[in-house]
Amino acid sequence: MKDHTRNKTVLLTGGAGFIGSHTATVLLDRGYDVVLLDNFSNSKRDVPTRIEKITGKPCPCEEADLLHSGEAEAAFKKHDIGSVIHFAGLKAVGESVEKPLEYYENNLLSTINLLGSMRTAGVKNLIFSSSATVYKHDNPVPYYENFPLGAANPYGWTKVMIERIIMDTAATDFTFSAALLRYFNPIGAHQSGLIGEDPQGIPNNLLPYIAKVATGELPEVRIFGDNYDTPDGTGVRDYIHIMDLAEGHLLAMEYLRKKRSHEGDFIDIGESASGAAHEGANVHAFNLGTGKGTSVREIISAFERACGRELPKSVYPRRAGDLAIVYANTDLAERELGFKARLGIDEMCADAWRWQRHCAKLPE
Ligand code: NAD
Ligand code: UD1
Repeated sequence: MKDHTRNKTVLLTGGAGFIGSHTATVLLDRGYDVVLLDNFSNSKRDVPTRIEKITGKPCPCEEADLLHSGEAEAAFKKHDIGSVIHFAGLKAVGESVEKPLEYYENNLLSTINLLGSMRTAGVKNLIFSSSATVYKHDNPVPYYENFPLGAANPYGWTKVMIERIIMDTAATDFTFSAALLRYFNPIGAHQSGLIGEDPQGIPNNLLPYIAKVATGELPEVRIFGDNYDTPDGTGVRDYIHIMDLAEGHLLAMEYLRKKRSHEGDFIDIGESASGAAHEGANVHAFNLGTGKGTSVREIISAFERACGRELPKSVYPRRAGDLAIVYANTDLAERELGFKARLGIDEMCADAWRWQRHCAKLPE
């Protein structure tokens, strides 16, 4: 079957954010047209211009809120959209515990409105930004896609629930296909230093925190626990370069398109949140990580190599809710998508540092 969606535009909801903006550069570089849709609640209005500067291609952006269903529908009427990558959402774990209703409202309602607009517009390909946080905490490492799901906080539950909503939707229309991309720990920045992660206020995540210690904006790196059962006692995570992660979206989109041209050929995603697989639903879950664990101390050392000096650091008590070790099994993404992360922690830290210097207006 001829793939008509190849020449159509890819809609990136939340496209001005950290992961969306980097994915936009990859898609534009590979000849796809994109349109971003963002309400700029957690991103800056100059991001589309920066993407244009990096790629030399137009990067149109609709300022719209997915909570207003009419705004999403207007974007589908205005642009000839073939696929959607759904990044838009609130993502701070701690804040989700303080403001659960805001998280459930924003993340769930946005997705429901988006799926309704896609149905009206006849758009059948969806890539969703899920997270490693959907795996139950008592799973052993590495995490496989068919492990039991469950979450430890409202943010995580929104991801579990959205995966479920997408599966239920796909079960009503076998021409609809979706990829659920479960990201591990994306860090780093585009090599140009023009886009990167720019959290508001004091960062919660390790890498942005270290970066602000390196610029002198924060006094010291806090190591949350050094008595875990890990090689150096500090927490171990699967850090993945944002450009490798971005590439995973392109591969997942092309995978769904290939699947559509072999109708009837699908794989099941395995056990879902409630324990029941949706036979026939064309939904595919993939871990996007490196498959390797790196400790807090190893990341700090890599950042010190990148910025060329030792950083002040102290050991603090463990952070509530943290696990000792989390990393992905990436065999499925490698086999089905041809996905393999290429960049290591030194590149991640070097690129993050270039971006942080740009943000802090330090000499390049
Ligand atoms: P981000 O905050 O940088 O980007 C999200 C974007 O969505 C922002 O630009 C924000 O303005 C926009 N947005 C939020 N609500 C919206 C709404 N109602 N309508 C329109 N736009 C809206 O976050 P990110 O790091 O780029 O993450 C993208 C997605 O990936 C999120 O869904 C997040 O939960 C998920 N994710 C992120 C990580 C991570 O470590 N960054 C890990 C796992 C999963
Ligand atoms: C956190 C979220 C997770 C989300 C992910 C990416 C929690 C409990 N989990 O995961 O849902 O998908 O971010 O956005 O918030 N650390 C320090 N000092 C710091 C910060 C972190 O030592 O200042 C340690 C942590 O204990 C952990 C590691 O660094 O061992 C990574 O932490 P972080 O970057 O916050 O990511 P996760 O906890 O993996």
